[in-house]
Amino acid sequence: MIIETDIVIIGSGVAALQSAKALSKNFNVHIITKAEITNGSSYKAQGGIAAVMSSDDQTQLHINDTLVAGEHHHSLENVKTLVEEGKNAIHQLIDEHFPVDRKDNGDISLGLEGAHSMPRIVHSGGDATGKVLIDYLLKVLPKNVQIHDFEMAFELILNNHSECIGVKTKTSNDDINTYFASYIILATGGAGALYASTSNSPNSFGDGIALAFLAGAKISDMEFIQFHPSLLYVKGLSRGLVSEAVRGAGGQFVDENGQKIMEGKHPLGDLAPRHITAFEMYKERAKGNEVYIDISMIDHFEEQFPTITQLCKDNGVSITEGRIPIAPGSHFIMGGVVADSFGRTSIPRLLAVGEVACTGVHGANRLASNSLLEGITFGKLMAEHLIQNGTRQKNFQPVKNITSFNVKSFTLLPIEELQNEMLAKSGILRDSEGLQELIHQLPSFEQFFKVDFDNLKQEKIEQIFMHITSSLIANAAFVRTESRGAHIRKDYGDLSNDWQNKWIVFENGKMNV
Ligand code: SIN
Repeated sequence: MIIETDIVIIGSGVAALQSAKALSKNFNVHIITKAEITNGSSYKAQGGIAAVMSSDDQTQLHINDTLVAGEHHHSLENVKTLVEEGKNAIHQLIDEHFPVDRKDNGDISLGLEGAHSMPRIVHSGGDATGKVLIDYLLKVLPKNVQIHDFEMAFELILNNHSECIGVKTKTSNDDINTYFASYIILATGGAGALYASTSNSPNSFGDGIALAFLAGAKISDMEFIQFHPSLLYVKGLSRGLVSEAVRGAGGQFVDENGQKIMEGKHPLGDLAPRHITAFEMYKERAKGNEVYIDISMIDHFEEQFPTITQLCKDNGVSITEGRIPIAPGSHFIMGGVVADSFGRTSIPRLLAVGEVACTGVHGANRLASNSLLEGITFGKLMAEHLIQNGTRQKNFQPVKNITSFNVKSFTLLPIEELQNEMLAKSGILRDSEGLQELIHQLPSFEQFFKVDFDNLKQEKIEQIFMHITSSLIANAAFVRTESRGAHIRKDYGDLSNDWQNKWIVFENGKMNV
């Protein structure tokens, strides 16, 4: 099937739906999503949306917290835009009746999370902010937005002016659909499922990054993978998120004997930036110790955290025991497709928004609850910019594909093995030896350009995309010979001056520093 339209959005999380809601007033919009519409990681987001909402708070404080948590590896301009425009975006949603939790006096209830100097986390349904937000955006999504679920984008189409003019997809029957559009928006989310333990949706493989890489777009900051310190951990497996909001409400990391783990480790203790708490939990577990969050001091836990309470129940953990067993797991990718605050990438008419984008707002480690904020803010700004400045594409003539195809010429790791290898060699703690080994286990960049995706089944395409994104992470992590934020090298110390303000960038299949 061939479809010609105005806008195609790939993905269905908060950034995708927020953009679609606004764009559909002026354009025909198609959403393509590879699973069920609610399957993405946004739906699982618990904590909330960080924004300057109270009269005690200031945008400069939120900006500073963002910069400190991310070790000053940011685009300052985009951080300012995120924080300043973010307030407007959340106020607009609330004015339009997005339901948020309120105190008895009707004021918006603001939670505290790691590395925030003040309570500023807007939340919904206690700890179900992502679910409530996605349900709300779906409810208000205009009927003219066409949703194609269980359909996977596998190739971006360029014309001879190197503009993006469309995308090829595979349906669940492995039929190919071709969409031509004036703008293609990547809103595919993150890549947490490249790792054996993750808080993300199980098919968050970084597809948008792989698509953009194959089209030659600029990609950066791939070495910065955030691990969340607290995923529920039962019988050797992580089972879902235990929000940082639990520690904002007083919860504390403890060991088997109830000793506080974060004491003396950081001035902010249990609310230290996420890369620090995650690394401490990793070190405890590496010593063979189990780790927990002590929740015994939190009144009315079940009411405040119904999602976590249910998650615990479903996994045989009773919250009346007063502690929840946890372990760190991969949570967020700070890097991605280089984009500005209007979503514009290095390829004309290809836009990227939300976690798939790298706008420099998260630096080397994202501040808690700045991700839903990113989705609603940059989704809104991108849509407004397109409504004002968008032009119609007239040249839908695809450039001829000139690669020679032969997928059998390289070996792929089975998915589970790749996830385990990524965790072991490109996880919280990295070193040159492990990264080099991992890089050699993966195909070279050139080989990825030789694949004939038309003739492959969805699962195989996903597996190849996983290898592409993993390879970008491992190569960037190998090259950055310092520790900064979530990129922690066993063999290199903290924050080298040589690496300050340096970005590792992939473009047209090549890596540059
Ligand atoms: C959490 O609730 O701990 C996660 C929120 C976030 O990813 O910022």
